Amino acid sequence: MDNKVKDISFDIQSGNNIHHVQTYYNSHKNLMALIFDELGEDEFGECKGMGRCGTCAVKLLKPSGLVNDFHDNEENTLSKLDLLEPGIRLSCKVFITSALDQQLFQLNL
Ligand code: FES
Repeated sequence: MDNKVKDISFDIQSGNNIHHVQTYYNSHKNLMALIFDELGEDEFGECKGMGRCGTCAVKLLKPSGLVNDFHDNEENTLSKLDLLEPGIRLSCKVFITSALDQQLFQLNL
C-alpha cells in the first residue's frame, strides 16, 4: 500500500490542455521524469536529464514560487537555445519539492 501523502499539486499546460498533477516529495528523479510519465510527450527529455538538449524546457507561469537554484550547465544550455525569459527552466534540473505546489508550468516553448 502506498502511504505517501500527495501534498504537492500543480498544473502543466500543453497547448490548450491543462494537466493537473498531484504528487509527493521526490516522487520522481526530477520534473522532467514526472512530465514524461504523466504526459508521454514525444521528444521530451532527449538527453535523459544531462542538461544538454533543452527539450525539457518549461516555463513557470507563476514564477513567484521559489524553485531550486539553477544546476550544473542549465543556464548555459538555456542561453545557447536563446531561452532567456524569466521563469524558463530545464525541467530535468527542477526537483519535486513543495516549491512546485500551486505552480503552473507551460510546455512546448
Ligand atoms: S533532458 Fe535534456 S536538458 Fe533536460
